Amino acid sequence: MSTFWSAWIMFLVVLNFSITLFLFVWGQFVAIPTQPDGTSGHVWAHGVLREGVRRLPLWWVLMSAGMFAIGIVYLTLYPGFGSYKGLIGWSAHDQLARESAANQARLTPVLQGFAGRSIEQLAATPEATRMGHRLFVDNCAACHGIQGRGNTSIGAPDLTDRDWLWGGSPEAITASILDGRRGTMPPFQGSIASQDIERLANYVQSLSGSPQSPSRAAEGKAQFTVCSACHGVEGKGNPALGAPNLTQPRRLYGGDLATIQQTIRNGRSGVMPAWRSRLAESDVRLIAAWVYAQSHADAAPAATAGAP
Ligand code: HEC
Ligand code: HEC
Repeated sequence: MSTFWSAWIMFLVVLNFSITLFLFVWGQFVAIPTQPDGTSGHVWAHGVLREGVRRLPLWWVLMSAGMFAIGIVYLTLYPGFGSYKGLIGWSAHDQLARESAANQARLTPVLQGFAGRSIEQLAATPEATRMGHRLFVDNCAACHGIQGRGNTSIGAPDLTDRDWLWGGSPEAITASILDGRRGTMPPFQGSIASQDIERLANYVQSLSGSPQSPSRAAEGKAQFTVCSACHGVEGKGNPALGAPNLTQPRRLYGGDLATIQQTIRNGRSGVMPAWRSRLAESDVRLIAAWVYAQSHADAAPAATAGAP
């Protein structure tokens, strides 16, 4: 803090303190002119209310005096009076540093214990998935939801099902987190006529058994050759391109016909940010373990204990 600001704060503290202290002391001794009927003579509400003159109650005086004492003791011991550091030398910064160091000392042996284990093994370790979920909530829940169930408004996928854009192996999940992903569905407005886009959308819906017009879907099937380059001949997707499996009803961007048509017309570009430079590798492994455990709950029953 610069000398100017320090002096300014000291000035404000002294000024405020002096004004309140003056009012407090003055209030004890000031002689209020009193009428013969014992009131101050002030009347309100057309004479219904008259202002009495009473001494301040003792409890109030004592409590206020106590506040002044506490204020002075606080400003003597703790930082608060400009750049004065306080007698006991406490600072929020030091306390944070001490507590972080203590946390780190507790955490290091736990993380060392995890270091030699595979993601699958971590997924079956409740302590690891608990930590992983906490990190997930801090870093990932804004997009994927607290339980990892996704968000269709931004195309963040459900991470708890077994349907993967880029693959659900421990390696693929870790790669998705470390380096991010970008799925690009090209726009077809212009290259495919509007009524054909509608037919294609009906065909896409038929792949997952969602509500559609069977006759339009049948007409759309022939056009799907344009799409099968990425989505596969049967529409089952392609993890090398992050092309979604269209045969399951849970959609990235929502499952109604209008949204599907919008996707085909305008394309989509879902972006999963990269975390390599933002999270420690040990944290990424814990998060990956929690994600893996969600979609393999039956394979690793112990792992669900950490995920409420
Ligand atoms: C800004 C929003 C956002 C944040 C934050 C985010 N993600 Fe994602 N994530 C996405 C989107 C969007 C996709 C889909 C990418 C695509 O379309 O290919 C995705 C994809 C993924 C995938 C691949 C899923 C699959 O089906 O293959 C995994 C795994 C994943 N995210 C995990 C995480 C984890 C773990 C975190 C936290 C460290 C995280 N995400 C944070 C938006 C986000
Ligand atoms: C170049 C590869 C490519 C081609 C060609 C392609 N797609 Fe896609 N498609 C993708 C990718 C990648 C995504 C995921 C976009 C994202 O992650 O945001 C996607 C997403 C979609 C979705 C959204 C799925 C969901 O879960 O919300 C639909 C529907 C779709 N495509 C249908 C089609 C149809 C119909 C065609 C043919 C006209 C087609 N795609 C052609 C790559 C492709």
